[in-house]
Amino acid sequence: MIVGVPREIYPGERRVALVPAVLPGLAKAGIGVVVEAGAGESAGYPDDAYRAKGAQVLAGRKEVFDAADLIVQVLCHGANDRTGEADLPLLRDGQGLIGFLRPLGSRETVEAIAARGVTSFSVELMPRITRAQSMDALSSMATVSGYKAVLLAADSLPKFFPMLTTAAGTITPARTLIIGVGVAGLQAIATSRRLGSVTSAYDLRPAVKEQVQSLGARFVELAVEAKDAQDAGGYAKAQDEDFYRRQRELLGKVVAESDVVITTAVVPGKKAPVLVTADMVAAMAPGSVIVDLAAERGGNCESTRPDEVAAVGGVTIIGKFNLASTVPYHASQMYAKNLSTFLLHLVRDGALRIDPGDEIARDTLLTRGGEIVQPRVREFFSLPAAEAAPKG
Ligand code: NAI
Repeated sequence: MIVGVPREIYPGERRVALVPAVLPGLAKAGIGVVVEAGAGESAGYPDDAYRAKGAQVLAGRKEVFDAADLIVQVLCHGANDRTGEADLPLLRDGQGLIGFLRPLGSRETVEAIAARGVTSFSVELMPRITRAQSMDALSSMATVSGYKAVLLAADSLPKFFPMLTTAAGTITPARTLIIGVGVAGLQAIATSRRLGSVTSAYDLRPAVKEQVQSLGARFVELAVEAKDAQDAGGYAKAQDEDFYRRQRELLGKVVAESDVVITTAVVPGKKAPVLVTADMVAAMAPGSVIVDLAAERGGNCESTRPDEVAAVGGVTIIGKFNLASTVPYHASQMYAKNLSTFLLHLVRDGALRIDPGDEIARDTLLTRGGEIVQPRVREFFSLPAAEAAPKG
C-alpha cells in the first residue's frame, strides 16, 4: 500500500500529516510513503529527511494523489473550509482518506467527500477508549493549543506571571482562570502553573475537580448544577439557556478578579456556549487578557472576533484560529504518531481491512462507496439509518 502526504493548503497551516520518524514502522507493515515536495518544510522536516527514511518525494500534488492508495492530511476538505475544495477533483473512487474532516460541520462538505467515492476516516470520531488513546488526534492538538494559549496570554499581559521577590520590590503573581477542563484546559492549567501564575479552573463536569487539584490549581465551584453533565464518551452535554444564564452570573465575579481568562468550553456538534459576556469583559481590569480557544466554534466570549486579536476597553481578546499549527514541529510529530498508529491498526497485509466488529474502524469510518456511512453523523444530518453495516 502507498500512502500519500500532500502539502497542507489551509492558509498559514504549518503542520504536516506524517513526519520522517514514523516511516520505518510503516515500511515494516508494507506501507510505502510518497510525499509532496516541501510538505514538511514549514514544520521543520525537509524533503531529504523523508528520503533518508525511505519515502519518495514527488514534485507535484496531483502526482501524490495519483500514486497513493490512501491520502493522509491534517486538514481535509471540511476542516479546511477555505481551500480544501481544491483537492476534491484529485481524489478518486475507492481511494482512502484520513484526517480532520469536521464530520458534524456541514452536510455539504461531507457529502462532497462521499461523492468522490473515497473511503474516508475522520480522526475527530476516534472513540474515547483506552485502546485508542495513542490514535487520538483531537487530544494531541488540544494539548498543543492549551499550551500555546497560555504563552500568548503571558506575552500580551503587561504583568509577570510568577511572584518575584526582587531588590526593586515584590511582584504579586498573575491570576489565571481556565474555563473548560478537557485536554486543552488541563494543559493550560499545567502551563500556567509552570509559569508561576495563581491558577483556578472551572468546568460544568464535577468529575474534573480532582484532576484540577492534582495539578495544583483551585477548582471553582459555582452554585449551579448541570443536568446530566457528560455523555458516555466523557464529553459535556448541552445545557438549557437558564443554566448558561446562571453560570454567567456566577462566573462574573471570578472573571473580574482574573488577569488572564482562557476559555476552552465546547459541546460536540453545537455552537460553543457564551460564558463571558461583553459586560463581564467591561468589568475586567485594563490590561487583562482573554484567550478564546473556542473561537472557531463561535467563541465562549461574546466580544471575541473570529481569528483576530481584539482590544476591547483595554482588555485583549485573542480569538486566533488553529493554534496547534503555531507549534508545527511537535504538533506534527504527535499527529504523525496518532496517524501511523491508526494506519497500522487499519492496514493488514498491505490493504485496508475494515472489521465491522472493530469499534475504532467503525466509529471513524465516515464515507464509503459514495455514501456517508457513520451512524452518528447520519443521525446528526437527519439522514435515514444506513441499510447494512459496511463489509470488511
Ligand atoms: P472538549 O474539547 O469537548 O471540551 C472542553 C471542556 O469544556 C470539557 O471539559 C467540557 O466539559 C467543558 N465545557 C463544556 N461546556 C461547558 C460549560 N458551559 N461550562 C464549563 N465547561 C464546559 O473536551 P475534551 O478535551 O475533548 O475532553 C472531554 C473528556 O474526554 C474529558 O473528560 C477528557 O478527559 C476525556 N478524554 C478521554 C480520552 C480517552 O479516554 N481516550 C481521550 C481524550 C479525552
